[in-house]
Amino acid sequence: MKRRMGEDDIAALSALVEAASHEDGHRALGEHKWLDLVQGGREGFAGFVASEATGRRRVIGYAQLSRGLDSWALEYVVHPRWRDEARLRSDLVAAALEEVGRQGGGHVHLWVPKPGPDDDAVAESAGLRRGRDLYQMRRRLPVDGAQASVATRPFRVGEDEAAWLEVNNRAFRGHPEQGSWTLAQLADRESQPWFDPAGFLLHEEGGALAAFCWTKVQDDDHDGGEVGEIYVIAVNPDFQGRGLGRELVLAGLEHLAGLGLDKAMLYVDRDNTEARALYRSLGFVDDHVDRAYTGDIAARSRRTEAARS
Ligand SMILES: CC(C)(COP(=O)(O)OP(=O)(O)OC[C@H]1O[C@@H](n2cnc3c(N)ncnc32)[C@H](O)[C@@H]1OP(=O)(O)O)[C@@H](O)C(=O)NCCC(=O)NCCS
Repeated sequence: MKRRMGEDDIAALSALVEAASHEDGHRALGEHKWLDLVQGGREGFAGFVASEATGRRRVIGYAQLSRGLDSWALEYVVHPRWRDEARLRSDLVAAALEEVGRQGGGHVHLWVPKPGPDDDAVAESAGLRRGRDLYQMRRRLPVDGAQASVATRPFRVGEDEAAWLEVNNRAFRGHPEQGSWTLAQLADRESQPWFDPAGFLLHEEGGALAAFCWTKVQDDDHDGGEVGEIYVIAVNPDFQGRGLGRELVLAGLEHLAGLGLDKAMLYVDRDNTEARALYRSLGFVDDHVDRAYTGDIAARSRRTEAARS
């Protein structure tokens, strides 16, 4: 278990993530988790690296744990040649859950992209239940015959943060990852190489931030080209149900098409029926599912630890 990764670890883990991403046709570790790994030092971060027992001792599996405001997130990556070794996944998950217990226990989300029966079995044997399903949806660009009819302007760094945080946190209230953003989290995204205020569109009415659509251009794991993502979109609750969500998605897609991109994607909770209906009506189709398994891990007492050592 490591709290901070050295350069060699990061190189070995990049190779593992790349091999897994290539095999699966999607990125293995989510953006938040990859940043935690590379930047290091985040409270509650722990990485678990599994290597070959003999020979070159290549890295064949990895699990990453990070502590959120009120829960833990866990994800694992297994090298394509080691996928038949069910024990490897189980051991990685068990090691991470033990660490959660040592750190006082709590609610855990284990995220698995394109989950299969093996993942269901690993989660079940670790005492976790099936929870949220997150859909990745996609569509081609441009959107023929539909144009946004509301005005938007780019986000202004250093000016718009407070209003954006207020609207974002209200619109996503109760959402486990998006509902309680801080200024530090927003500043972190603003400092990323992909951040482009021109693709972070705000719509104002009567001086209030009524809705926003934050887009992002990234490498497409499907074909090595680029894809435009509707990264975060929300309508201020005071302005919902008036067609603004639809207009802001269209504005975001127009921006992405204007950059010359020919496809767009986004992530949405299976339970977010309003948003899924909206995206479907705009021509998005389901691509694949990322699944969360959840459970509550008890704190491990010092006595348990002593008995085991
Ligand atoms: C999802 C969201 C952006 C929609 O914005 P909105 O301005 O309220 O939605 P619109 O008025 O543009 O409605 C567009 C479509 O959404 C769907 N929709 C909106 N409200 C709905 C409801 N209560 N029930 C079912 N469908 C609904 C409909 O398909 C509607 O199409 P229609 O015009 O044919 O009826 C907004 O509800 C929101 O900010 N939610 C919280 C944040 C969020 O979930 N963001 C998306 C994360 S992926």
